Amino acid sequence: MNTKFRFKKEDRIIVLTGAGISAESGLKTFRDHNGLWEEHRVEEVATPQAFQKNPEMVWRFYKQRYFQLDEVKPNSGHYALKELEEYLGKNFFIITQNVDGLHRQAGNERVLEMHGSLQQCFCSKCYAHFKMSEVDLEPAVPQCGSCGGTLRPDIVWFGEIPYFLDEIDRILKKANYFLVVGTSGSVQPAASLVYLAKRYGAATIGVNLAEPENMHYIDEFHKGRSGEILPGLVEKWIG
Ligand code: APR
Repeated sequence: MNTKFRFKKEDRIIVLTGAGISAESGLKTFRDHNGLWEEHRVEEVATPQAFQKNPEMVWRFYKQRYFQLDEVKPNSGHYALKELEEYLGKNFFIITQNVDGLHRQAGNERVLEMHGSLQQCFCSKCYAHFKMSEVDLEPAVPQCGSCGGTLRPDIVWFGEIPYFLDEIDRILKKANYFLVVGTSGSVQPAASLVYLAKRYGAATIGVNLAEPENMHYIDEFHKGRSGEILPGLVEKWIG
């Protein structure tokens, strides 16, 4: 795997990850199986409207995904990014669309989970936040321990504003390199971050199994599985 880039310790590197980086951990991506995720069209379960109409169904879907986390662990792609953070320290950030927590489990600390986290939920009435592990998940629709309101997963659904957008803009402005891993580049605003980074002056690198939709903004593209090719690339970048 050849790359023309070499990272110096003072370079600022931002990584954007998507479902593809967790595929080799055994988690399904969203758009590689006829658009179906565990028999659901993702737009059917991942909207505030779906939750209003059928909170039991939406909770069933997210509880299943939350419990599935017990069975998965980070893969070599996640660990390669951990190595990159060890090398770059505060000059490094991961922005992830993933809600599986695998970057933190791999040891990365500078992670912005822009689409929320499966490990948390909050009350749709009083907005108190809870760890899933502290909540009674037995009822079909779990209730808030503080006010009795309806809890919802802390996931950014279609039509909602992702988290950390101000901070993301701030760090993108200073980035020398923007690396995109395992994302189809089809969901906004995450899909536009590569364009934004480029506009702010960063060199852009992609690692993906198939060409993403925003391929034209990527300066150097590596086609393949991130678990297989990221470790070698990181070696070269920081070697
Ligand atoms: N290594 C690298 N890339 C991979 C691998 C792998 N092992 N396996 C699959 N891919 C690629 C696919 O080719 C695809 O381009 O990962 C991408 C996954 O794309 P999506 O399924 O669309 O996932 P993502 O881009 O993260 O979706 C964005 O959409 O449904 C919403 O909120 C959800 O965060 C999600 C957002």
